[in-house]
Amino acid sequence: MRPSPDLQRMQDFVRANTRLIGVPGLFLAHTGVPRALRLWLADEITPIWTATEAGLESTGIDPPFWAFPWAGGQAVARLLLERPQIVRGQRVLDIATGSGMIAIAAASAGAAHVLANDIDPLCEAALALNTQANEVTAGWLGGNLLDQAVPDVDVILAGDIFYQKQMADQFLAWLGKAVEQSISVYVGDPGRAYAPVGRAPLAEYDIDTTFDLEGVTQRLARVWKL
Ligand SMILES: C[S@@+](CC[C@H](N)C(=O)[O-])C[C@H]1O[C@@H](n2cnc3c(N)ncnc32)[C@H](O)[C@@H]1O
Repeated sequence: MRPSPDLQRMQDFVRANTRLIGVPGLFLAHTGVPRALRLWLADEITPIWTATEAGLESTGIDPPFWAFPWAGGQAVARLLLERPQIVRGQRVLDIATGSGMIAIAAASAGAAHVLANDIDPLCEAALALNTQANEVTAGWLGGNLLDQAVPDVDVILAGDIFYQKQMADQFLAWLGKAVEQSISVYVGDPGRAYAPVGRAPLAEYDIDTTFDLEGVTQRLARVWKL
């Protein structure tokens, strides 16, 4: 199906302002030929942020999260690729998807169906381009799901969502409801201020980051099952 004119414009914007890069440590095997998970990514935050504001003719917008593979998300993606049984044959939701990195890892690991959600409409364009680049499929679910009932899925995945207090509280409350409904919930975090530390992580990874984005070149990221 052809993308709508709006989605096409957003995809053109993403392609014009990013380049297709392999994410270190993430290898996909679903095509039979192992290769790096590749995403349309920016090299630095300020130019892509300025370009996004200019493109949207708006100021004070959130950072273009979709243009970077955040360390918490990389940890979740790595876990899925190492332990595909977590999602194999399952209906999966990647909430706060950004680039779609976790959704792509879930699809590659054999999930039966993958949905990706974010409040930023540009993520739909990033998801479309990034799923295409990795030869997987994932459906788009726009809007704020935290105001709604938890969707009917088996597994919910979330990477790097604990960097603001109110947002972290809202996510934890909503994800708690998902757990009560017997949905398996996995979250990844690289030491943000409001992460639910204090429980034993399922996995931890040293993740390469850029100094421009994180002020360090490596972060220890953990994944918890809530
Ligand atoms: C740091 S990025 C992480 C992106 C991706 N999960 C990763 O690890 O690369 C945080 C993402 O959360 C999204 N976000 C913030 N509030 C949200 C909400 N209520 N529902 C869905 N997404 C949200 C932002 O738009 C952004 O894409």
